[in-house]
Amino acid sequence: MKLTDEEKKMLSGEYGEMVKKSMDILVTLGDIYGAKKMLKTNNVHSPGVSYRVTGDAGLNFVKEAAFKYNSCSKCSMTLNTIGIDYDKAEELGFSKEFTSKQRELLKAYEKIGALGTYSCTPYLIGNIPKFGEHVAWGESSAVAYVNSVMGARTNREGGPTALAAALTGRVPEYGYHLDENRLGDYLIKVETKLECDRDYGALGYYVGQIVGDKVPVFENIKDPTLENLKALSAALASSGAVALYHVKGVTPEAKINKNILKDDVEEIIFGEKEMGEVGRKFNKSGNVDMVLFGCPHASIEEIKKIAKLLKNKKIKSEIWVTTSKPVAELGERLGFNKTIRDSGAKIVTDTCPVLSETVRDYDLMLTNSAKMAHYAPGLWNLDTVLISMEKAIESAIDGYWGGDL
Ligand code: F3S
Repeated sequence: MKLTDEEKKMLSGEYGEMVKKSMDILVTLGDIYGAKKMLKTNNVHSPGVSYRVTGDAGLNFVKEAAFKYNSCSKCSMTLNTIGIDYDKAEELGFSKEFTSKQRELLKAYEKIGALGTYSCTPYLIGNIPKFGEHVAWGESSAVAYVNSVMGARTNREGGPTALAAALTGRVPEYGYHLDENRLGDYLIKVETKLECDRDYGALGYYVGQIVGDKVPVFENIKDPTLENLKALSAALASSGAVALYHVKGVTPEAKINKNILKDDVEEIIFGEKEMGEVGRKFNKSGNVDMVLFGCPHASIEEIKKIAKLLKNKKIKSEIWVTTSKPVAELGERLGFNKTIRDSGAKIVTDTCPVLSETVRDYDLMLTNSAKMAHYAPGLWNLDTVLISMEKAIESAIDGYWGGDL
């Protein structure tokens, strides 16, 4: 790989041990994927910041970078969802030991210069890359969103490569940084009405399991909301490993490039039948233990809608609404959180069930997120139902889901 003089200095250790290690990681990665050069970046969203994911090995690595080598991020760097609600860890029953390790890890990241956003939707709270900007993001749902909806360019970074990008301000030029890898591999013909986030999740789930890590191009999706596309991004990246998709007439690259598809691509139909298949996969009647909204972390519009549906109601099942702290603070100011809390539901910030240490003795969870419906059964040995927000809330009020989608 061709390196600039500055990059050679980084690699030789002139800027310290951690910069050298970081450049070493990036050059090795670039060599594996045939990168010809490095690209400059000024925007990192780091995954792997839950202590549940890093364990002691990751914690010690970041602590060493922060406190032994005094490393400093060259980029604007936001942090993904963590393992605790930072302010309510004790109240929500996170163990003292886990909470203390998680806080140590965050202190180390913050010493490096990272911003403690603790959210998988950094694009809702100020990390908004420009179209075409080369960034280094992790967290699969956020990667799919930033590549597809915002038209920025990133590969799916892990914790170590995101940190390496932050310390050097560089990413190797391969994968989704290159035009030729951003064209569509499949055409998805949507032949059914998508009415809510749950339906977008079902679409993404169905398509993700067929296309794997390829690039799907959707047609016949009309006026999706930010929340619809957030749900689609997360679902595509959970049943599959989709990091980029296009929606004709909607997402920026599909608008600019009329030839967004490669030649002779395979077509996939998504109609009533396919929607029904996903619905049957995630459906089981019974007493509802938990309802989860906010995977990926809820927007203020979602919080507003939940508040409206829960107004003057009392719930029998537990409800968690997971979101980022800034969105929760806005919900607080606007009075939505109080309405939600008055029903018995909880607003939980910074974390989510998948990345926290909560192990629950539950049998049935309802969610409008295909990503959560996909991961929760493996984590807690429970059944999940993929359902609209309205039906989930009605069921939480009754404490029971009858199974009629
Ligand atoms: Fe975010 Fe957790 Fe879902 S990190 S995307 S809320 S699994």
